[in-house]
Amino acid sequence: MTTPYQLGILISGRGSNMQAIAAACQSGQLHATIAIIIADNLDAKGLDFCKQTNISHAIIDRKSYPTKAAFESALTEKLKSAGVNFICLAGFMRLLSADFVNHWPGQIINIHPSLLPAFKGLDAQAQAIAAGAKTTGCTVHYVTAGMDEGPTICQRQIDVLPNDTAATLSARLLPLEHECYINALQLITKGLVRLENGVVKVTKE
Ligand code: GRF
Repeated sequence: MTTPYQLGILISGRGSNMQAIAAACQSGQLHATIAIIIADNLDAKGLDFCKQTNISHAIIDRKSYPTKAAFESALTEKLKSAGVNFICLAGFMRLLSADFVNHWPGQIINIHPSLLPAFKGLDAQAQAIAAGAKTTGCTVHYVTAGMDEGPTICQRQIDVLPNDTAATLSARLLPLEHECYINALQLITKGLVRLENGVVKVTKE
C-alpha cells in the first residue's frame, strides 16, 4: 500500500503547472489529492482557477508578515491543517529557509525552466538564449535551501531555435514542463523515486 498523497501546491503567479497537476489528479493519471493550493500574494493569476473550480485554496501574503520565519510558520500551519504530506512548488517565487525545508524532508519538489545546474534563478530561458545554448529544458528536483538546487528527479530537453526569444522558447517549453512535473509526481506517488540521505533513489517498475 503506497502513501495517500495529499498535495499542497505553492504558487506565486500564473499557475499553469498547478493546473496541470490538478487536471492529472482529476483524470486519475496521478493518484494524489490536492489538499490545498496556497498563493503567497493576492495578485497570483492562478487564484482565478482555484476560485472557478472551487478547489481548496488560501492566500498567505508574504507582505503581511514581518519576517520570513513568521511567513513560513503561517505556511506550515496552513499546510498541516489541510493535511498536506507533500509540497509542490509551482512558480513559487520565494526561497524557502533551511528550517522550512528540513521540516519536510524529501517532501518538497520544484520545477525550474532549465536543465539544472545550468541557468539557475530568474529568466532561465532568456539566460539560455543569451548564453547561445543550443538546447535547454526543464528540471523537476527535490528542494533544498539553495536556490534551484537539490537532487534532480527528471528533466526534459528542447532545442533552442536560431530565432527564439525568451517568450517563444518559454511557450514551447511550457507543455514539456507540465508533462515533466506529472511524470515526476507519478514516479514519486508510485514509490518508484524517493530521496534518501540527499540522494534520489530510483526503483525500476
Ligand atoms: C515555470 O516556467 C516554472 O518552471 C518556473 O516558473 C514558471 C511558473 O509557471 N518555476 P506557472 O505559474 O506554473 O504557469
